[in-house]
Amino acid sequence: MSSAVNSHELPAASMAGNPMSLVVDEASEAIRANAFYFGNKAWAEEYLTYCHRSEQFKERWLAATGDWTGKVVVDLGCGPGNVFATLGGRPARLIGVDVAGGSLELAEGLGYTTLLADAANVPLDSEMADVVAINASLHHCEDMRAVLVEAARLVKPGGVLVTDHDPQLSAWDFKGVAKLLWVARLFVYRVIGHGFHKTATQQMWGLKTEIHHKPGDGLTDDFYIDTLAPLGFSVSVYAHNHEMGADVLDGKAGPAAWKYKIANMLSGRRPSARTSALSLMCVARKTDGVLA
Ligand SMILES: C[S@@+](CC[C@H](N)C(=O)[O-])C[C@H]1O[C@@H](n2cnc3c(N)ncnc32)[C@H](O)[C@@H]1O
Repeated sequence: MSSAVNSHELPAASMAGNPMSLVVDEASEAIRANAFYFGNKAWAEEYLTYCHRSEQFKERWLAATGDWTGKVVVDLGCGPGNVFATLGGRPARLIGVDVAGGSLELAEGLGYTTLLADAANVPLDSEMADVVAINASLHHCEDMRAVLVEAARLVKPGGVLVTDHDPQLSAWDFKGVAKLLWVARLFVYRVIGHGFHKTATQQMWGLKTEIHHKPGDGLTDDFYIDTLAPLGFSVSVYAHNHEMGADVLDGKAGPAAWKYKIANMLSGRRPSARTSALSLMCVARKTDGVLA
């Protein structure tokens, strides 16, 4: 492992030699942190094994996008390829865009054609995709609106843009004791080696990538609607707690884990309220000129 791993300093963007390196050289801290963390093959493999691999995820996404077979799909912030690994199918073209070289190598192994590029500035033609997917990635990007607008540009008329697993601002706006517990959990996770917190280094870099996943930050329905509706999309936004399949598209959030219920109660919110559901999923269809 390089010495930069043990440093609290951000490493220089390490894409030299890659044909797309100019895109991420002189990148923002957000991009460099993501490139570093998700570029670590061992961490990315672990992430690919455990995240977004459930049957509920598959059911929800297939309900939102349809089967990917025969379609042109662009997956922005594809990481090591979790979405395709879970959904399967035989897309006509499957393009994965990310800033993390190590993750892209894993995605390539799954069948993605990969592009090392910033999701806010993608070197692809406009209106080339039937499906544009962004899962758990928008909140890792500094300028979320710029990424959403860029994603919208890629969608064919009649095509669909789906985002998921971005924190709902209202649910993560922890107050008082809940905010203290939120910070304290990091220590506990570190001691017990929970999930992606096995070492101080992994924990620190993982947290650096979570640009808009912090108390008082996150996504709102209006963000998606105000960004995409003027671009000719019909937009639906669903709130959920990660455990529901296609029922999310019928407005069901599903159960929240006890720790989130307590955090919401301590913050003065009803855990069962829509605004307490952890993540937002946006399903936006580009009208083909005739407003639906
Ligand atoms: C939490 S992972 C999600 C990976 C995958 N989409 C999934 O469903 O599991 C976030 C991904 O977004 C990527 N990312 C962050 N900022 C980015 C940017 N500006 N452009 C492209 N990808 C970015 C990270 O490198 C990382 O692979």
